[in-house]
Amino acid sequence: MSLDRMFDSAAGAAAKTQGDCITIRRPDDWHVHLRDGDMLRSVLPFTAAQFARGIIMPNLVPPVTTPEMAAAYRARIVAALPEGSDFQPLMTCYLTDTTSPDAIERGYAEGIWVAAKLYPAGATTNAHHGVTSIIGIAPVLERMERIGMKLLIHGEATDPSVDIFDREAVFMETELLPLLVRHPGLKVVVEHATTAETLDIVRANAVRAAATITPHHLVINRTSIFQGGLRPHLYCLPVAKRECHRLALRAAATSGEACFFIGTDTAPHPRRNKERECCAAGAFVGASALQCYVQVFDEEGVLDRFEAFASLNGARFYGLEANSGTITLQRRPSHVPQAVPIDGDEVVVFRGGEILPWSIAEVRA
Ligand code: NCD
Ligand code: ZN
Repeated sequence: MSLDRMFDSAAGAAAKTQGDCITIRRPDDWHVHLRDGDMLRSVLPFTAAQFARGIIMPNLVPPVTTPEMAAAYRARIVAALPEGSDFQPLMTCYLTDTTSPDAIERGYAEGIWVAAKLYPAGATTNAHHGVTSIIGIAPVLERMERIGMKLLIHGEATDPSVDIFDREAVFMETELLPLLVRHPGLKVVVEHATTAETLDIVRANAVRAAATITPHHLVINRTSIFQGGLRPHLYCLPVAKRECHRLALRAAATSGEACFFIGTDTAPHPRRNKERECCAAGAFVGASALQCYVQVFDEEGVLDRFEAFASLNGARFYGLEANSGTITLQRRPSHVPQAVPIDGDEVVVFRGGEILPWSIAEVRA
């Protein structure tokens, strides 16, 4: 048993498994797209029902690039929370080629944002204002390294000649590894890891690197996207990889290793933007995330390790306390809603319309 794992089981003292129930400390979602306006109001209640805190992705239109924009966005999220919810949004800064180190430090010092998100320019939805050269933002990264602010990375190469299934692997070799060497004190989260090689790189740098793992990448592989026809609602970025990678992700998530934690990457798009000639990337997993995750731990026979992945590892990496409240999940079938209405359209839910074996039984603040 690794040291990490021993530490996790010791720290996970709140976890209790009793019959068909598991009670753990309240989990956090370390990667969530809440959007804005009507969409925000429609999807936020699902995330707030499952998670105590969320790292809020900044890829709005226009992107959240200044402390003022982040503070205003946080206020809009808080205003949209269901009555009585104590969900806490943790804000991030969208890095561009012109982000200033002083603005980064100011937002961090004032407690407005906790991390900055690096989107290679054009890598994914609303990433066209992202960074064109990582070396070019070295002064920002040096400042973050000095003040202890985390860098969250969408790790995909953007060269259109790179095969889409290789984009994560190419990014790790050509961008992430050199970045880790250039900035030895910088703490990084590799977001939504999808390959076995990425997991090994994170493990090898576990003191200062971590990875989030989504529910959908634990459940689908690249063939699922084409099962019986093209399934636009399973198309997200990074795109799901081969079965061997899905198995590696399941092994990592359920291993108890402290460098892996929840990040749902819930990324809602209206049905009309998914079911069209050019489908938007992103899956709405916010309404079924915990049910999917806990099922994976149950299938792997390691429910006792669920609390570390869901509720302890991420908080520790971010230097935050674990939540004091608890959530109880029960092995009792739950029906996942097919879709969530939004202003004249709807958002299709990941695994929507299915019966999942687990339900959320109780949340205690
Ligand atoms: C995300 C979105 O829609 O904002 N899409 C996705 O496929 N995951 C952006 C992202 O995280 O890549
Ligand atoms: Zn995302």
